[in-house]
Amino acid sequence: MIQTLEWTDKGVRFIDQTKLPMEETYVNCTNYEQVAEVIRGMVVRGAPAIGVAAAMGIALGVQNSKAQSGGDLKRDFDQICDVLGKTRPTAVNLFWAIRRMQDKFETLRVRPIAQIQRSLIEEAKRMHAEDIAANQAMGRLGATLMPASGGVLTHCNAGALATCGYGTALGVIRAAFEQGKKIHVYADETRPFLQGSRLTAWELMKDGIPTTVISDNMSGAMMRQGKIQAIVVGADRIAANGDVANKIGTYTVAVLAKEHGIPFYVAAPISTVDLETPDGSKIPIEQRNPREVTHIAGQQMVPEGVGIENPAFDVTPAKYVTAIVTERGIARAPYEGSLKKLMAPETSVEV
Ligand code: MRU
Repeated sequence: MIQTLEWTDKGVRFIDQTKLPMEETYVNCTNYEQVAEVIRGMVVRGAPAIGVAAAMGIALGVQNSKAQSGGDLKRDFDQICDVLGKTRPTAVNLFWAIRRMQDKFETLRVRPIAQIQRSLIEEAKRMHAEDIAANQAMGRLGATLMPASGGVLTHCNAGALATCGYGTALGVIRAAFEQGKKIHVYADETRPFLQGSRLTAWELMKDGIPTTVISDNMSGAMMRQGKIQAIVVGADRIAANGDVANKIGTYTVAVLAKEHGIPFYVAAPISTVDLETPDGSKIPIEQRNPREVTHIAGQQMVPEGVGIENPAFDVTPAKYVTAIVTERGIARAPYEGSLKKLMAPETSVEV
C-alpha cells in the first residue's frame, strides 16, 4: 500500500505529492512547523490526510516540547494547535483532528509529561489506522453502487494519496474492481494543481485499474457520448443539509451528471461531515496563490497583470448528490435526517 504519511522514530514522513508522478520522493518533518508547511504547500493534501498529518504534527510538537510543568506544556500545545489550524481552512478533517487531539490532551492533563507525549503519539497513530479501516468499509459499501461494467468518472484525487491509504472515492472504485466489476476510470485532470492527471492516474495505474485522463472541459462530452455510467468524488466538508465542498470543478461535474441522468456519489468518512455548518454557503473556501493558475511547470501562461481567481474548492448543492457513502452507511436525501442518523455512533445501516 502507498504510504502517504507515516509516523517514524525520525519524524513524520510524507510522500512528496508536489513531485509525483515524475519523482517518488519523501519529505521528513522533525517539528510541527515543518508539518504545517507541508500541509500549506500541498506536499500532503486531501482532507483525511490533512487531518491525520495535523494530529501527527501535534504529537511531534508535544514530543519536542521543553516544558517542565503542565501549564507550560498546555501553552505549547495551544500554540501548536493554533499554527496547524491555520494551514488550510476548507477541509473540516483538519479541525476534527485537532479537536480530537485537544480532547485527548484534556484527559491526560494531570499525567506526567512523558506519558502525555507517548499517549498523543499513540492517538495520532490510532487515527492513521482508523482512517484506513474507514476507507475499506466505505469501499465495501460504495462498491455496491458501482456499475457491473462501464465508465466511472472521478474529479481530483480522493485516493490513497488523499488519505492514510486505500482512499475514499478511489476506495469505492478499488473495492468494485477487486470484486470483479469491469470498471474503466475517467480521471479529470483537475486544473490547476492536476491532482487527477498526476496523482489519481499514478495510483490507479499502480493497481492496474484501467484509467483514462481527460481534461476538465471534456467531461460533458464524455457523458453525452455515454462513456460515463457513474461518478464518484470525495469531499472536504459536508454540511448538515448535504451540501458538499470538494475540489473546484466538482459542481460543474455534478450539474452535468444531473442533465445526463448519471448518478453522482460522494464518498467521505464521518470526520468530513460537519453538522455544525448548516449549509454550503457557510463553508469557508480557500483561495490559493494565483501563481498556481498563471504558471505551468514554472512557465507563465497568461499576460502579465491579468486578473486571476483561484478558489481551491466549490460547493455542490445536496440536490445534485445521489448518495453519500460513509464508513457507517450510505446516506440519501433528505440529508438533514440521514446524516444526523449516521453520526450517531451505533449506526451502521443504509439510511
Ligand atoms: O486541494 P486538495 O488536493 O487537498 O483537495 C483535495 C480534494 O478536493 C479531495 O477530493 C478531498 O479532499 C477528498 S480526499 C479523500
